[in-house]
Amino acid sequence: MTTLMNYAHRGASGNYPENTMIAFERGIALGATGIETDVQMTKDGKLVLIHDEKLKRTTGVNALVADVQSEELLCLDAGSWFSPAFKDERIPTLEQLLTLAKRTQTFVNIELKNGIVQYPGLEQKVIDTVRAFGMTDQVILSSFNHYSLIECKRLAPDIPTGILYMEGLYRPWKYALSIGAAALHASHYAVLPDWVAEAAQQGVIYNVFTVNEPAEMTRLIQAGVAGIITDYPDRLTAVLSKL
Ligand code: G3P
Ligand code: MG
Repeated sequence: MTTLMNYAHRGASGNYPENTMIAFERGIALGATGIETDVQMTKDGKLVLIHDEKLKRTTGVNALVADVQSEELLCLDAGSWFSPAFKDERIPTLEQLLTLAKRTQTFVNIELKNGIVQYPGLEQKVIDTVRAFGMTDQVILSSFNHYSLIECKRLAPDIPTGILYMEGLYRPWKYALSIGAAALHASHYAVLPDWVAEAAQQGVIYNVFTVNEPAEMTRLIQAGVAGIITDYPDRLTAVLSKL
């Protein structure tokens, strides 16, 4: 038995349109114990779950999330780009996902997507929403924008944060400790067993992304990571069942 976290990346986005309610629901049904999602803000300040800063790829609309009112954005078709079978899928709000996660006792890795477009007040809004749901012990806040993680920690010392990075940070657990982060959210290529062990000794965990191949999942589990973020939670469920 292992307690490794199985995070569905943008939901079960290998087989369902990313960051939609069906992708989240199916991810949980396929064995995910956590959902990874990306949060941004509409023009009128609504927290919505979408990866790209632009709406184009997943809805066809040529505009920034930040420039569109929620009334319009929440009506867009966010499923047809993936398959016509998903034409009724919409861009969810953070509240919708937290409602599902609370009901199903699923953990949520909320990635604040504010590296390119800045959303003043995003950290406070996300934290207020998590608190309103009473889910401070059921979320981790992650970001490639580490200034934002420091702000999250300042506003909510009780909510864990995860440092997103791609590669090549030297002894990143020391950096994590210096900004109060509980976890390193590393691109999986850059993770070696010795590092995971040394981080663990310092009390810092690794959650790795985006791992879709069973052999690489097995390597990382053996390396001792705490969580794997995957587009295919069903594959990770199968790997874990054989351990
Ligand atoms: O949180 C892990 C992963 O989602 C980070 O990259 O671009 O898929 O948001 P991205
Ligand atoms: Mg993400």
